[in-house]
Amino acid sequence: SRPGTLAIRARLLSFDADPAVDGEAAAIRYVEDGILVIRDGIITEIGEGPSLARRLEPGVPLIDHRPHLVMPGFIDPHLHLPQTQVIASYGAELMEWLAKYTFPEELRYGDSGVAGEASRFLLDTLAANGTTTAAVYCTTHQVSAEAFFHEAGRRNLRMIAGKVMMDRNAPPGLLDTPQSGYDETKELISAWHGHGRLEVAITPRFAPTSTEAQLEAAGALASEFPDLPIQTHLSENHAEIAYVAEAFPWSKDYTDVYERYGLVRPRALYGHCVHLSGREREALAEQGASAIFCPTSNLFLGSGLYDLAASRALGLKTGIATDIGGGTSYSMLTTAAEGYKVLALKGQKLPAFEAFHMLTAGNAAAMGIETRVGRLAPGLEADVVVLDSHATAPLRRRMERVETLAEELFALMVLGDERATVATYAMGRKIHDRYHAGQRGLA
Ligand code: GUN
Ligand code: ZN
Repeated sequence: SRPGTLAIRARLLSFDADPAVDGEAAAIRYVEDGILVIRDGIITEIGEGPSLARRLEPGVPLIDHRPHLVMPGFIDPHLHLPQTQVIASYGAELMEWLAKYTFPEELRYGDSGVAGEASRFLLDTLAANGTTTAAVYCTTHQVSAEAFFHEAGRRNLRMIAGKVMMDRNAPPGLLDTPQSGYDETKELISAWHGHGRLEVAITPRFAPTSTEAQLEAAGALASEFPDLPIQTHLSENHAEIAYVAEAFPWSKDYTDVYERYGLVRPRALYGHCVHLSGREREALAEQGASAIFCPTSNLFLGSGLYDLAASRALGLKTGIATDIGGGTSYSMLTTAAEGYKVLALKGQKLPAFEAFHMLTAGNAAAMGIETRVGRLAPGLEADVVVLDSHATAPLRRRMERVETLAEELFALMVLGDERATVATYAMGRKIHDRYHAGQRGLA
């Protein structure tokens, strides 16, 4: 058989559509005993185990992950590379937390050794949690982004990342200028965008740390590169919103600031979006931008409760993310569980199928990469996670009373974490294995 071909046998779960919009029957693709065929990193076939097993070319390695669940690798559409040593810092709301913990730490990332080591830790930890794609903020330092792209490229991962642009309201060592932010982002684009599966995101941190001149420069980049992702923060916390109103006195609201500079469009990822007005939600939805719900962060920093129903009512795409290190867990399972609890406080629901759709195809759509990853389907990249719904004693005990797939998935999301990751594959190559987790790194 051809080198580079392999098959995985397991319970296969993927979403062809959004269960919240199109209904569960149309959305859920579940094969109780299925086989996934992968050739040169791309999924070529998905089907019933017994019949596909008989048709497999002799010599093709068949990895039997039964009775575990194989899903598309999880996608984390918002997190910060330089905050792996900020996570779990005590007692502050957003603006104080940035000044007291985050900015001092980010100053270290002007050193490519620091950024490289953090990139290796982050990518290892994401793989251990079944996360194969992320949208990542580096720091203002170009070397921080270069180090991250270097590590992600070596692992052949689909990753989006950007050099943060920030030219005010931070320590001098973290500031760039409208011109240098523009130039360095452009250099990153020519060096890394489209290199393997890497994409560069235009990354103005948020309106409070950019002058109008810098937002204009970010907008100029956005119009020169209309297909590039954009990432920033929006409407996370009341003090932040009040500051934006004061700093941009001409603006109708916070979203209007980004609209003014041409930063609201498809593939623009707006972190948080907790306190949006109806007008803002409508503007984001109409212009095809995405809101990124960061439940563990919004709870930890006391920022507020995301309104999923309001977003859905207006057709505003919502992704769900860890927001490491305002967020407190690397696990997308835990993130979904906390999302469920945030929505419970809003009187809203997040059924398990909708949650797992969000972690995979939903987040892919929010990021504009749905033709590449997020589903188990022929032609898509073979990034998959293998999950054990019986990974821990509390899960095993709960599973004794579980009767349906929906119940199993819900318990897995509420009680599960990285211990439920049996293995993670990127482009058909194993990048994490539960039994070899002590010797992490490149397999
Ligand atoms: N707003 C601007 N920067 C940040 C950040 O690093 N984390 C969070 N949670 N919000 C932000
Ligand atoms: Zn963030």
